[in-house]
Amino acid sequence: MERARTFAICVNHRYGSDTPSCGDRGSVALADAIEQGVRDRRINVEVERIVCFGKCTIGPNMRLVPGGAFRHGVTIHDVPAILDELEALCGTRPEEDELPVHLIGS
Ligand code: FES
Repeated sequence: MERARTFAICVNHRYGSDTPSCGDRGSVALADAIEQGVRDRRINVEVERIVCFGKCTIGPNMRLVPGGAFRHGVTIHDVPAILDELEALCGTRPEEDELPVHLIGS
């Protein structure tokens, strides 16, 4: 089976700042929904919560790495399409594999 790729989701939140951030725009809930969908569908991708792509004004931002296109301004309504795309690009894991989701920097 092919090694799992990583889907990186910015969950940065700037407390006490007027500078926009993905966390202020709901990216934690998006990460929760995507992680749940990846688990439920056994998609062969690792989900990482990261802190800032440097594209803060157009978030929430996320991308498949390496080499995936950025998604900007993601909403909860985009999650099913994101999961469909991840499954098409990354495939699924067999039943006996460890679950791929872990948390980093959340
Ligand atoms: S806060 Fe998400 S890209 Fe900077």
